[in-house]
Amino acid sequence: MKAAVIQAVNQPIQLTDVEKPRPEAGEVLVQLRAAALNHRDVWVQKGLYPGMRLPVVPGSDGAGVVVELGEGVRTSWLGRRVIINPALDWGDNTRFYSREFRILGMPDAGTFAEFIRIPTKYLHAKPEHLSFEEAAALPLGGLTAWRALFSRGRLRSGERVLISGVGGGVALFALQFAIATGADVWVTSGSEEKLERAKAMGALGGANYNTPKWEKEFAAQMGGFDLIIDSAAGAGFSKLIDAAAPGGRIVFYGGTRGNIAELIAPKIFFKQLDIMGTTMGTEAEFTDMVAFVESRKLQPVLDRSFFLDDAEAALRYLEAGEQFGKIGLKIEG
Ligand SMILES: NC(=O)c1ccc[n+]([C@@H]2O[C@H](COP(=O)([O-])OP(=O)(O)OC[C@H]3O[C@@H](n4cnc5c(N)ncnc54)[C@H](OP(=O)(O)O)[C@@H]3O)[C@@H](O)[C@H]2O)c1
Repeated sequence: MKAAVIQAVNQPIQLTDVEKPRPEAGEVLVQLRAAALNHRDVWVQKGLYPGMRLPVVPGSDGAGVVVELGEGVRTSWLGRRVIINPALDWGDNTRFYSREFRILGMPDAGTFAEFIRIPTKYLHAKPEHLSFEEAAALPLGGLTAWRALFSRGRLRSGERVLISGVGGGVALFALQFAIATGADVWVTSGSEEKLERAKAMGALGGANYNTPKWEKEFAAQMGGFDLIIDSAAGAGFSKLIDAAAPGGRIVFYGGTRGNIAELIAPKIFFKQLDIMGTTMGTEAEFTDMVAFVESRKLQPVLDRSFFLDDAEAALRYLEAGEQFGKIGLKIEG
């Protein structure tokens, strides 16, 4: 079969002939119809992800059709249209994942391929209202946004939420989920055009994070945010502390702009802030997230799609950060 493979650190990903996987007991073979990119794929290519193992077929997001069954799998699985939960072996503790936890797409062979073998417990019915491409955009970003907003962030209807860097794949799911919950949502972005697009989706306002003191205006206008969702971290993180309301929560799931260099302790303790990290989510959270998307008929925002043999161009496009939403990979069998 064809798969896009990263052979070595900092080498272009290349379409390669690899052995078609065979499903083992409890597993099925899924013929992938679409995959989607995450920033993680770029970190893997650059050798910046913990526990690096190469060569690898990356890719955490995928949707397709079950075409072969491993031992013990019911025949009713054949032909099902599915999406894949990429959070493997989370375990029983809802607060923290097990030692065996992995994200699909390194070290396990991921979704940038014509076929993938995967245990049935990670498969969920593709939401009917979504195309394969739209459905493939959902898993990793949707799950991360879900846990960040609801399990960690304890979001309630009517609260004021700030989503930073709204052009990102996860950030846009956070925007959609928060609005659908009845929260009042504001956003930041490095692009005026993306701010306008977020407002068209229901954000009440936006600020460019490159504008000096952007956070002061927000804090003066409304007294700050109850919940802030961030993936940039870095030097700008201290501004989120200024933008938080007293008693507010800040949840972050990434460090795109590097580590948080300096925090002013009194601002955090006098404001009684909760600052929380989050990563991916449990199987129950994945189930709840998909059910929410189905019940509200939410549509993942796809910026654009590439073909599998153009995966290198897709990764460079993601890295350039011009996108608004998810970047897809079409897979033609
Ligand atoms: N822990 C987890 O489970 C988990 C899951 C998913 C992602 N992540 C991490 O989260 C980050 C985003 O992932 P993604 O896949 O959503 O990436 P992405 O689609 O590439 O989005 C990255 C976004 O970061 C925003 N950004 C850049 N500089 C910023 C700044 N100074 N302040 C605020 N936002 C800024 C940009 O927003 P604008 O374009 O609007 O400026 C950009 O669109 C990555 O570091 C990724 O590794 C972690």
